[in-house]
Amino acid sequence: MSYPEDLRALVDAELERLCFAQTAPTAGLEEAMRYSLLAGGKRVRPVLALATARALGVEPERFLPVACAVELIHTYSLIHDDLPAMDDDELRRGLPTSHVRYGEDVAILAGDGLFAEAVRLFCEQPGEPARVLAALRELSAATGVEGMVGGQYVDVVGGRRDAEELRALHALKTGSLIAASVGVVLVLEGLGEPETMPFRRFASELGVLFQIVDDILDVTGSDERLGKPRGSDERHGKLTYVSHFGLERARQLAAESHAKAVDTLAEAAGDTSDLWRVADYIFTRNE
Ligand code: IPE
Ligand code: IPE
Ligand code: MG
Ligand code: MG
Ligand code: MG
Repeated sequence: MSYPEDLRALVDAELERLCFAQTAPTAGLEEAMRYSLLAGGKRVRPVLALATARALGVEPERFLPVACAVELIHTYSLIHDDLPAMDDDELRRGLPTSHVRYGEDVAILAGDGLFAEAVRLFCEQPGEPARVLAALRELSAATGVEGMVGGQYVDVVGGRRDAEELRALHALKTGSLIAASVGVVLVLEGLGEPETMPFRRFASELGVLFQIVDDILDVTGSDERLGKPRGSDERHGKLTYVSHFGLERARQLAAESHAKAVDTLAEAAGDTSDLWRVADYIFTRNE
């Protein structure tokens, strides 16, 4: 099954339309923000949001503001992740990283700007205000200390961890934002627990699977296909599924995680075929 390219095209077109600065003094900041945002990228998170809408029988177009908001937050996380003080990488989405192109000061601000503009964009999501607020709370929590930023902290401080702690690290730094990509749409639709559980369990597993595959590709991938430097984790002595389990076992665990994710999805109501496609793509990708 192939990636839902129609949803990706919707996201790309909407991101292209976004405009942050109206005034000349900040035109350079806008340029830096758009440079990273429009450099390409698989758009997995916004595509998941739109695929969730489809599964619920709602027009994906309706959720473009929140889908793009998630991609802005993700792009900010990549700019900061690549900084010299973090992973110190010079290639991202096939281009020189933000700090290489614009300097560290502007790169930090481009990340900050993307985060703030994401919140503004999210608030422009049409819908019942109480639901928009609850969904924004979920996304902010998934980005914050008990989410992506907390996971990045655990990653940079390093140290030894057992298998359970390693999974928890991946769930935080990558899984939480992926889970929220699905979660915000469930909240905006006002769905209750029994109906949302299979979607939520699917999305949580998918988030961990995503980072396991990322760890594997850091060893087996190529700079050209990945658009980022292979071997970054090893250079920095990072704890990953490959460093902890070895390549073969990491591959087995990825297969188990994929199987678990799609099994859960089978329990979800609606046409979940696009969500299946994204899960298969995440498992088999080489980019
Ligand atoms: C890379 O994310 C960072 C991780 C959380 C592993 P992606 O692999 O989704 O990067 P893009 O958006 O396609 O560039
Ligand atoms: C980063 O994980 C996850 C983020 C929250 C950005 P990695 O450091 O492994 O991501 P890549 O490999 O640089 O994309
Ligand atoms: Mg990192
Ligand atoms: Mg990195
Ligand atoms: Mg990585």
